[in-house]
Amino acid sequence: MEEGATVLDATRKLNLHIPTLCFVEGCKAETSCMVCVVRIDGKQKLEPSCATRAVDGMVVESETDEVKVARRTALDLLLSEHVGDCEAPCRLACPAHVNIPLMIRQIAAGETDKAAATVRRAATSCETCSARCEKACRRASHDSAVSICLLKRFADGRGVPPASSDPSAADWKKRFNCHIGKLKDGEMEEFLKEADRGPRQEPQGQGFSVEEAVREARRCLHCDCRKADNCRLRDSADACGASQQRYAGAERPYFRKILQHASVVYEPGKCIKCGLCVQVTGEAGERLGLTFLGRGFDAQIGVPFNESLAGALEKTAQRCVGVCPTGAWAKRGE
Ligand code: SF4
Ligand code: SF4
Ligand code: SF4
Ligand code: FES
Repeated sequence: MEEGATVLDATRKLNLHIPTLCFVEGCKAETSCMVCVVRIDGKQKLEPSCATRAVDGMVVESETDEVKVARRTALDLLLSEHVGDCEAPCRLACPAHVNIPLMIRQIAAGETDKAAATVRRAATSCETCSARCEKACRRASHDSAVSICLLKRFADGRGVPPASSDPSAADWKKRFNCHIGKLKDGEMEEFLKEADRGPRQEPQGQGFSVEEAVREARRCLHCDCRKADNCRLRDSADACGASQQRYAGAERPYFRKILQHASVVYEPGKCIKCGLCVQVTGEAGERLGLTFLGRGFDAQIGVPFNESLAGALEKTAQRCVGVCPTGAWAKRGE
């Protein structure tokens, strides 16, 4: 091993897998998550493998029950205060697992062929379903559900050849899923920040015209997480059997979407306070950058002097998205 190599480096070289959450290649180890812990012979407590130097002759246990429970507990605690939906309520309710929010975003962007392919990737049709997606739609608790069935029919009639069914569909329901649950007062306003506030469209003809479909699609609240397919917190929760409920407190934090930056969205409820985005902005010499505001449990990532995110992330917005292990930082428009 090279001088200064860590236990994590050593295990990776041996093709052994230790889960990590707050460690990113090329960044200084923050050691905030404790998901990568191992037992090292002679040490009193479990050590984070991402920041512990490997030494010749060291005896390391990475898969004992003690280590697995410690990792799962670390994740359970993070998830107990996590605020987000990995998957949208409409998709969770759909027996065919259609990626409804993606289909709707594709229609809104005028990409109807892609929307058709998204619909046809599902293994079954909607004919025998009583529109469970619309019954579960979050928008219904504000005014009326997004017209998912008509949007799906609009996309499905675009003449795209049937796609082979999604190979991951069978495993989809087994994945870890974070849930926001019932919205608190004022939280609907956070969702509406990205949606058209107009009423549900009624088609003038048999089905939606292109314009009607696009307008209706823009009513969607983008309930699903932008990082649902590449979130390290979700992956770790899957790998370690973590639960959002095990340590759930009486009051979950408030859900917020911060859209002050043109290319990224920040959702503080999904932040695990790893500090990677703070590190990135500091190293890049951002004029304002990000910092921890407050102390202890109440600490939050924010911009100094109450300035806006647009001024804080002049150079590093996409880098923050890249290093963030969760969907706290995500690209807008996805
Ligand atoms: S950040 Fe990860 S765990 Fe949280 S809602 Fe998004 S995908 Fe799920
Ligand atoms: S608002 Fe959109 S993403 Fe949310 S449940 Fe309704 S259709 Fe699905
Ligand atoms: S927002 Fe920053 S501190 Fe929070 S999880 Fe993402 S990278 Fe870590
Ligand atoms: S990955 Fe090592 S402490 Fe988070």
